[in-house]
Amino acid sequence: MSDNGKMWGARFEGELDPQFAEYQDSLQHDISLAFADLDTNLAWSEALVSAGVLTDDDFDKIATVIEGLAAHWHEHGIPTDSDAEDVHSFVEQQLVAKLGDLGKRIHTGRSRNDQVATDMRLHLREWVGCLVESIEGLCLALVEKAAVHAGDAIPGYTHLQRAQPITIGHHALAYVEALSRDRERLIDAHNRFDQCPLGSGALAGTAFDVDRDALAARLEFQHGPTRNSLDATASRDHLCEVAFACSMTMTNLSRLAEDYVFFAAFETGFVRFGDAVATGSSLMPQKRNPDAMELIRGKAAKVQGALQSLLTLMKGLPLGYNRDLQIDKELLLPALEATNQSILVAATAIENAVFDTERCAREAGRGYLNATDLADLLVKAGVPFRDAHGIAGTAVNRAVELGVELHELPAAEQKTLLPQLSGDLAESLSVQAVLDRRNVIGGTAPVRVRAEVERWRILIAEWAEGYHEFEDFDPDEEDLEIELEQPDAE
Ligand code: ARG
Repeated sequence: MSDNGKMWGARFEGELDPQFAEYQDSLQHDISLAFADLDTNLAWSEALVSAGVLTDDDFDKIATVIEGLAAHWHEHGIPTDSDAEDVHSFVEQQLVAKLGDLGKRIHTGRSRNDQVATDMRLHLREWVGCLVESIEGLCLALVEKAAVHAGDAIPGYTHLQRAQPITIGHHALAYVEALSRDRERLIDAHNRFDQCPLGSGALAGTAFDVDRDALAARLEFQHGPTRNSLDATASRDHLCEVAFACSMTMTNLSRLAEDYVFFAAFETGFVRFGDAVATGSSLMPQKRNPDAMELIRGKAAKVQGALQSLLTLMKGLPLGYNRDLQIDKELLLPALEATNQSILVAATAIENAVFDTERCAREAGRGYLNATDLADLLVKAGVPFRDAHGIAGTAVNRAVELGVELHELPAAEQKTLLPQLSGDLAESLSVQAVLDRRNVIGGTAPVRVRAEVERWRILIAEWAEGYHEFEDFDPDEEDLEIELEQPDAE
């Protein structure tokens, strides 16, 4: 460190302007990389041994201090009294305080540019593991909802107009499909960023003879070292990808939330949220608001904003590293947090959403949701579909006039309007019959929904054995109980 306390201070005689000093300080945003930074310091120290810069004995001392610091921080949180400008200078300060000159040797042949790139990938892979696990939990909650309501009817909508009856289970499993793709997207993104940038130096590669393959293996990167130092230090597309995977997840959650807000409206009355996830009004005593779902819808805006900001952050940057890139963490990390919390809250809200199954079934039988089936019955009686569509439409018009449903049309009306059909419409146009007819792969028939529930149960159990390399990660621990000055709270 130079006299002015900065790791880069030697060329500078004056102090930083205090306002700028605060402006450029990123510690409050990147402190959550502290554990990753310890890992990279340890791995780099080992690489320096193989490069002949440090001895085995030096490495043992460094390892002891790093392990001690990690244990101490896990137990007591990270000290808050640092004037370091970022997490890397903070960790270096701590190492120098305990190791003296030896601590100052660790930055040999390394730059904060390859360091931050590596830290971020290590941190991100833990986040991906955590998000994947949270999505799996939500999928399971939805699958269990579907299991309970595999045969329970609810109106299905297109254009938010009643369209055809579906089962509540079918609706729940629709979101499992979408979320399972979000899960895969996260895993794909991890697969692509699973390469080690350390050894890239500031932009051109380190000048020391380090074994980058060993370094990558030590840090458990699956695809070895990055292959171009300029790209490795300057690219952030993997952050954008993860931000997109989160944004897509949030978009799906937001649609789920919107559906449930609608289901909980007085006008529909399909769902009642339990006390665990509903809130009241400070003024209107009768209110019972679906705030959990509304907040999920709201947080989606925040996460999507992060994606847009990251793309914009990147678009004008020349290669290699530019300080603009420091803002990436400020954007992405809160988005990861918001996404994870939203997934967890969504699971709780789903578990606490109680369907009024009688009302749902009754409403599925009102509003001519069986008109398509009437046309289909006519087709089966030999009428070309286009004509059948017209005949069924006329029947709907007449039923509307009479104030009845299609299956309630008086026998005389049926005879005139639908001479091709002799059977009992009440039976063949019942909600149950309409549901049962959709007995096709992907259809809403209860028997199909039950089969899908079984399929998902097996798949989710397999997931739990699959992608869980970093499942010890606990984002709450990443809060680290630090009291660094926070930006204005949300
Ligand atoms: N804190 C910086 C970041 O997150 C890394 C430091 C690189 N600083 C530099 N002057 N090259 O991007």
